[in-house]
Amino acid sequence: MRRLLLASVAASLAACTTPGAVGERPKASASELDKVTAVLKRDFHERGQAKMNRVELDEVQRLCNLNADNPPAEAAKRIEEAQLKTIKFPSGSLMGDWQRAEKVAQNGRGSMWSDKPGAPAGGSCYNCHQISPKETSFGTIGPSLLGFGKQRGNGPEMQKYVYGKIYNSKAYNACSTMPRLGYAGTLSEEQIKDLVALLLDPASPVNK
Ligand code: HEC
Repeated sequence: MRRLLLASVAASLAACTTPGAVGERPKASASELDKVTAVLKRDFHERGQAKMNRVELDEVQRLCNLNADNPPAEAAKRIEEAQLKTIKFPSGSLMGDWQRAEKVAQNGRGSMWSDKPGAPAGGSCYNCHQISPKETSFGTIGPSLLGFGKQRGNGPEMQKYVYGKIYNSKAYNACSTMPRLGYAGTLSEEQIKDLVALLLDPASPVNK
């Protein structure tokens, strides 16, 4: 069985990026991206929940990689429109149960070779966001969502935005670093509705 050679991937990545000014994120060229993908395809193998499809870049990831996450406005708009069409909005209320959601927000498991096949995944929201005031350990890659519903309201349009953002973040920001949790099949419709309630329900600790 082949093992992933981290050193080999790191070396290819280093060789594949064109250096820019200090502090500037380097842009990759199309041929460089292809080279890196070829190394990943050679060295990764499918195991459990970890599938090879994640090695393939889709149109959005390719465009963002080629433009250091800052593509021309027209291209970004086109991508956002196409990504918006991928969102399957459930009919009826989009607010689930905020009490169930905290566990999903906390849980960072899923899509790893070590996860049991078929076991439900989490949203790893706390890796990037502050959410409930009770949880004091959180990442800061994304904005704080504390008081989200109180500040932004919880009407149908806001529910739709939050559902959509969790389902496919790139529909609202083409090169968002937030994972596309519904689009990728990581979270179920019910889990996403519960998270909408966690952020918007006036009874949720987030809005106390
Ligand atoms: C890898 C980091 C990451 C993870 C994991 C992540 N997010 Fe985000 N999220 C971001 C970033 C960065 C932004 C801001 C940029 C953007 O809008 O794309 C954001 C934006 C948002 C917004 C929009 C905020 C606004 O002011 O409009 C919501 C809502 C949100 N995230 C909810 C969630 C929820 C719920 C989860 C868990 C299911 C989650 N995020 C997981 C990084 C992340």
